[in-house]
Amino acid sequence: MATTKDYRLGEFTFPRGWFMIADAEELNTHKPLAVRFFGKDFALYRGQATGKVVLLDAYCPHMKTHLAAPNNTSYVVLDRGGSNIEGDGIRCPYHAWRFGPDGKCDEIPYHDGPIPAAACVKSWTVVESLGAIWVWHDPEGGDPEWAHPSLPQWDDAGWVRGHWDHLGVLNQHPQEVIDNITDYSHLGPIHGSTVERYENEFKGHLAIQRQCGGHRTLVAADGSASTLHTDTVYHGPGVLISMLTGLFETALLIMHTPIDDGQIKVWHSLIVKSPTGAVPTTSDDLVAAKQYQEMSRLAFAQDFEVWTNKGPCLNGLFIPSDGPFLKCRVWYKQFYNPRAKKQEFLDQCEGMYRVRGVPAYTAA
Ligand code: FES
Ligand SMILES: [Fe+2]
Repeated sequence: MATTKDYRLGEFTFPRGWFMIADAEELNTHKPLAVRFFGKDFALYRGQATGKVVLLDAYCPHMKTHLAAPNNTSYVVLDRGGSNIEGDGIRCPYHAWRFGPDGKCDEIPYHDGPIPAAACVKSWTVVESLGAIWVWHDPEGGDPEWAHPSLPQWDDAGWVRGHWDHLGVLNQHPQEVIDNITDYSHLGPIHGSTVERYENEFKGHLAIQRQCGGHRTLVAADGSASTLHTDTVYHGPGVLISMLTGLFETALLIMHTPIDDGQIKVWHSLIVKSPTGAVPTTSDDLVAAKQYQEMSRLAFAQDFEVWTNKGPCLNGLFIPSDGPFLKCRVWYKQFYNPRAKKQEFLDQCEGMYRVRGVPAYTAA
């Protein structure tokens, strides 16, 4: 398993950006969730009082008990209906210290004196959007550099919201997934695309791919394919949103988040414009959108299967007819280095890139 150091990405092990950390449906339980990202363990839960989602560092400062690991035996849990969430706070199963959503200990049941100032865990700013929970991760501790993921289609009665497909854990460095945005030459062999037009662009925190052509995976039930236009954008290092115009108008969402160095968690979802044109959408729309999401998942599985077994591409044998992989790798470095150095990388990669012999993209 190759690491950030092996790819020579920069000073930080984990990149700066917005990252998905859970499907909101996972919090439709009264129990906290133990999650691990960026080489750290966290306690994630929905507060009972306000419904607000809380993300805390996992380990209780008293004696390092995990605040959210499954516990079915402590009376802290048993006496609260099977959960140690209390209001918007959480109570440690070991000695019952209670922490508020701000991460500060606000009650030690067997102690009258003042609560030590160090009795706290870090509380992370999280956002709920697109049916998912997002965190801003920044090794320098800075405020978000761009807005959290959101789409107007999510709240549009004429669009069907998909569920999140949990694609599981991939034992690859995220660089291998990021490369895909510039990977012109895999589109035919892997996805059965007959690419007619193609281009990449790098601009600030965005890496963009625009292409159009036929497709052998995203096709109608009778196998017929309309020309598929895709306008795909990485919004920072972990959030991919692709606007598809083909069989149906669709927003395709693919998210990946580092768990440990060289290991990521991956999710996929779609938001589909009413296939029948009805507003609000009907049950027929739901069926068609669900089928389309499954086709899209299978198209992504074509990439995933290769990634599952490939070696790390540390020194690729890139040829001039490949996409601009090396420019993309420079773009990606901005997230692994101090924000103050960002422009150095952008100066080396911003701009439009075409592939030898392939016409530039034109919109549908
Ligand atoms: S370890 Fe958490 S209260 Fe003691
Ligand atoms: Fe792909």
